[in-house]
Amino acid sequence: MSPIEDPVGFIRRETKIKPVPHAEEIRLHLADEAMEMWQKTEEELGELGLAPPFWAFAWAGGQGLARYILDTPSLVAGKKVLDFACGSGLVGIAAMMAGARSCHAVDIDPFALAATSLNAKLNGVELTLETADITSSDPPEADIVFCGDVFYEKPMAVKVLAFLDRLTDGDTEVLIGDPGRSFLPTKRLIELAEYSVPVVAALEDNEVKRTRVFRLSKN
Ligand SMILES: C[S@@+](CC[C@H](N)C(=O)[O-])C[C@H]1O[C@@H](n2cnc3c(N)ncnc32)[C@H](O)[C@@H]1O
Repeated sequence: MSPIEDPVGFIRRETKIKPVPHAEEIRLHLADEAMEMWQKTEEELGELGLAPPFWAFAWAGGQGLARYILDTPSLVAGKKVLDFACGSGLVGIAAMMAGARSCHAVDIDPFALAATSLNAKLNGVELTLETADITSSDPPEADIVFCGDVFYEKPMAVKVLAFLDRLTDGDTEVLIGDPGRSFLPTKRLIELAEYSVPVVAALEDNEVKRTRVFRLSKN
């Protein structure tokens, strides 16, 4: 069966279950050999027009947010959470483990939602899942929105910031985790925490990345 017909089988075959370096309470299906996985998936799925396997990695921004949420459970306790651009589902899983009432995980990549579903089960939590680009729709109802590591490409960063602005306009709290990617809107951010986060050296320029958690201020 091709990966596209069986994303769950593909994820199970191509990953190993490992703890998240900066949030060891959480285990995820993660790529073992980073570049091999990235290239293999690009080869196997690229022809089908599918995206690189972001879902197979715990990105620095997501790891920072997960750590902050697990250490600050009052932030999410009893709340409706949105994990925007969920990738592996790391941030939403952290929110549910910290006592959130519910978490809706959204990503444009169907493989991300398949990975999030597997990872949620692995950690004994439930999330609702949506494959969509919701940046130009009405934002789903949420008390707090988390956005891990999304400011690495300009067109995406512009679109995502406009979406997050609509949320803060409506008084929804928005927290961002980011290791200083190129299009991070630094002037709009209030720093809440800073961490040194182990990352995959083959994909980043270092083995550890200084990563911060921010609150997005109103525009
Ligand atoms: C670097 S990964 C971060 C994943 C996760 N938040 C983390 O920190 O580990 C970026 C993710 O953004 C997703 N993405 C890109 N554009 C998006 C959009 N318009 N709406 C939702 N997700 C998007 C990608 O598919 C990918 O899973």
